Amino acid sequence: MVSYNVAIVGATGAVGEKIKEMLETTSLPLNKVVFLASKRSVGKKIRFKGDFFEVEELQADSFEAIDIAIFSAGGEISKQYAKEAIKRGCVVIDNTSAFRMSEGVPLVVPEVNSEALKQHQGLIANPNCSTIQMMVALEPIHQMFGLERIIVSTYQAVSGAGMSAINELKQQAQDILDGKEEIEATILPCSGDKKHYPLAFNALAQIDVFSDEGYTNEEWKMINESKKIMSDQALKVSATCVRVPVMSGHSESVYIEIEKDDVSVNDIKESLEKAPGVVLEDNPAEQIYPQPLTAVDKTDVFVGRIRKDLDSNKGFHLWVVSDNLLKGAAFNSVQIAEKLHEMNLVKVNQ
Ligand code: A2P
Repeated sequence: MVSYNVAIVGATGAVGEKIKEMLETTSLPLNKVVFLASKRSVGKKIRFKGDFFEVEELQADSFEAIDIAIFSAGGEISKQYAKEAIKRGCVVIDNTSAFRMSEGVPLVVPEVNSEALKQHQGLIANPNCSTIQMMVALEPIHQMFGLERIIVSTYQAVSGAGMSAINELKQQAQDILDGKEEIEATILPCSGDKKHYPLAFNALAQIDVFSDEGYTNEEWKMINESKKIMSDQALKVSATCVRVPVMSGHSESVYIEIEKDDVSVNDIKESLEKAPGVVLEDNPAEQIYPQPLTAVDKTDVFVGRIRKDLDSNKGFHLWVVSDNLLKGAAFNSVQIAEKLHEMNLVKVNQ
């Protein structure tokens, strides 16, 4: 029986750790897993399925005899090394935004468009975390009632910005509770930007750098990626992305306008109840609705607060929550690897 050699690129990072956890329980037949990171981490021990493995330095020849490489070490690393992996016959699943909008690169949420995997030429892009959970929640509605417009506001957790941002938020919270007057901020809202602000006890309406039309890159990702995943360039999408002091679990307030008339809240709920990867948590009488604290460490997308818009017969509001490191990143990329295997789309190198 076929079994794969898998590499995790960025194995010591916030997403890399979760990819390792997802590989511990995957249905993908594994021969071995290789843990790659920067020179700084060489020799660090990683526990996988009860055994310890040393982190190795990422190099071009790290990909000799690797069948599937899952990248999560930032866009620059993907741009530099994805081609090296592909050249060596490896299938790359990339968690960064480096290739998501490139022609010929499938951008895949398995519940929505796994058929797109058939077009892969060695590289598959994992979408942006906020986009993934929104697509899982909206695809059943898209299928049954048609979708014309999406307006989303996000409440995104700090873990999406990596380990160093998590540590910075913890330090800021501690410093504020200790009564310190100077609160240090060196990473958020965006490590590459000119100014930095504290996130502790705050909310920052900037994720990634500002770009065209006053939107940030994160907002453009949600707009452009949604259209690509749903194969609908006419879909109207707008986004406001906000970082909040939550460790893990992105929340989204999503307003949609559907195509069909006379659709009820119950019709929307029924479409979601049957949908793969969706859990309905919607009972206002019992104060039941999704929360990041209860969604964390779970692979599903939780949906609640479903209401009809008061002014538009075709408008609905939803609250969508998921663990950004799992369905938003690690789980989705391991699901892609499982699908590639099921669809016989991996060439084995060994
Ligand atoms: P390292 O821990 O050795 O720096 P996060 O997004 O949580 O900050 O994680 C980023 C991941 O990308 C880490 O595993 C980090 O490894 C890895 N990484 C960063 N720079 C490089 C590099 N130049 N080569 C290989 N891996 C890198």
